[in-house]
Amino acid sequence: METPTEDKRFFGRRKGKPIKGSRQRLIDELLPKIILKQPEESQRFSWDTLFGIKPEEVWLEIGFGGGEHVAELALKYPNVGFIGAEPFMNGVASLLAHLNGSHMKQAVDANLEQGRADNVRVWPDDIRPLFSQFPDGGFERIFILYPDPWPKARHAERRFINQRNIPELARLISDTGAVYVATDVSAYAEWAQEQMTVSGLFDQVHSDTSCPPADWVPTRYERKGILAGRKPTYLVFRKKNAK
Ligand SMILES: C[S@@+](CC[C@H](N)C(=O)[O-])C[C@H]1O[C@@H](n2cnc3c(N)ncnc32)[C@H](O)[C@@H]1O
Repeated sequence: METPTEDKRFFGRRKGKPIKGSRQRLIDELLPKIILKQPEESQRFSWDTLFGIKPEEVWLEIGFGGGEHVAELALKYPNVGFIGAEPFMNGVASLLAHLNGSHMKQAVDANLEQGRADNVRVWPDDIRPLFSQFPDGGFERIFILYPDPWPKARHAERRFINQRNIPELARLISDTGAVYVATDVSAYAEWAQEQMTVSGLFDQVHSDTSCPPADWVPTRYERKGILAGRKPTYLVFRKKNAK
């Protein structure tokens, strides 16, 4: 078998504390219902048949962590289809708990079993191998929130915003859409801006980077970081020469 090169390997965590009880049940019973089903190798995803709804738009969250952000957006925008990717299985279990209503009082009615708009699909793994199967301009929003900063220079290749992934993001985002990046590591904010500029594929469109864009829903990591005194940077990019 071919050994993945440094740029293809996933370096984050896939497992944390043992997943038990109701969380394991969600992985066994709920995940199979809403897992993102990959089409055959040469095929692309079709949004019309992917969700329980016919989505008006599709949004992608790469590295959803505990899933609070995607779960909250999915409730707020029932006509949008959401794809969330996260290889850390404890995070996947947490998202499932949110979708199932176990975490949010207001979400009890939104329990999937009780007929909640079925607008989320979960990819419990690295998103990169799927890029080629997503349709051109298929996403109206792509969120990359608090990506692992990989601060050491010798690990720079592992940072998600890089010259291999940026062209993929440019192909996948629609002409009217936007890529949202948030980080509280100032060196990563500079890195991301520089990488996007060097690519020549994106314009930065949100000038006040210390203020969240309109409609912003903070992640759990962001809320905790702000309480601890960390300062987020919010970056929004549109495809160059887009309408
Ligand atoms: C620092 S955490 C932030 C989590 C979440 N976005 C938040 O703000 O709370 C970064 C997450 O990105 C995930 N991640 C890293 N590379 C990824 C990839 N190639 N595909 C999907 N997720 C990825 C990691 O597993 C990790 O959970």
